Amino acid sequence: MQLESVIRTQDLTKYYGRSVGCEGICLRVKRGHIFGFLGPNGAGKSTFIKMMVGLHAPTSGSGELLGRPLGDFRVRRRVGFLPESFRYQEWLTPRELLRFHGDLLGMERSAIPEATTRALGEVGLSDHAGVKLRQFSKGMLQRFGLACALLGDPDLLFLDEPTSALDPLGRADVRRLLLGVRERGTTVFLNSHLLGEVERICDEVAVIDHGHLVANGTLGELLAGPCEAEVGLAEPLPAQSAEHVAAAVGGRVLESAPTALLVGLPDEEAVPALVDALVAQGARVTRVDRRRRTLENLFLEVTDGRHE
Ligand SMILES: Nc1ncnc2c1ncn2[C@@H]1O[C@H](COP(=O)(O)OP(=O)(O)OP(=O)(O)O)[C@@H](O)[C@H]1O
Ligand SMILES: [Mg+2]
Repeated sequence: MQLESVIRTQDLTKYYGRSVGCEGICLRVKRGHIFGFLGPNGAGKSTFIKMMVGLHAPTSGSGELLGRPLGDFRVRRRVGFLPESFRYQEWLTPRELLRFHGDLLGMERSAIPEATTRALGEVGLSDHAGVKLRQFSKGMLQRFGLACALLGDPDLLFLDEPTSALDPLGRADVRRLLLGVRERGTTVFLNSHLLGEVERICDEVAVIDHGHLVANGTLGELLAGPCEAEVGLAEPLPAQSAEHVAAAVGGRVLESAPTALLVGLPDEEAVPALVDALVAQGARVTRVDRRRRTLENLFLEVTDGRHE
């Protein structure tokens, strides 16, 4: 089944006076995906999200959310947003402020308490529903911001650096939360600098640099390609046999030590074939360490050399 795109943009551009926020962005995000939007500081990530949620009008180009043109008010109710810089009315409690947000969303008054309990539970703040926000730590405020974004059970969630204030445990909580959100069919658009986090949860990724898209695809597509395998051997293998085996699976020996080989391979699929071929040559393999391309390698490649 063809997945439906819930975000589509065509040459979307935002200039701030003469400086570029982002330029010519053509993007599709499929329903039910977690989409990671990456880029160095100042690349244009927040600019793009602000155009999506209606905080900035595009200078040119067009876009659609959930099948409606950008700025459509009916769509806003179905969209959740956690901004990058958040400040909340610190004299209020989460329960009070979520009630206000529920009113702004046009929710039935009677439905707000239950939605509040659910949203605070999801972000781990159930015990703090009645505590004034001025007593919250930065990480707790960020969790509260997530609860605001989740309150209306949105179809589409925009999160601008949702874990920037969180400790590693908090980040793991948010990862689980986002996987749960995806499970119930919500699409998540995630701006992040945390490449490891993105690699763990995102279905698809785009990289923006100096306002321009420089990479876009599924993680499988972007990280496919050559890999390296380090193989441990119980006894040394004659150098010629090692070369022969590597060549038979389309690779070559990059480094060799008496009881270890580093072999360059065309793709990950070749790793088991390499081990089989070594064993067939009489080698006793003690370990295999596969080094595949990471999102960090990709990020550095596509943004490398583009900075003054
Ligand atoms: N309100 C504004 N007025 C003028 N220029 C702006 C404004 N907001 C952003 N910019 C510029 O637009 C470019 C993109 O900024 P943006 O905030 O979108 O980057 P970002 O990728 O979100 O960066 P970061 O990772 O630091 O959050 C930068 O050059 C920035 O200086
Ligand atoms: Mg930003």
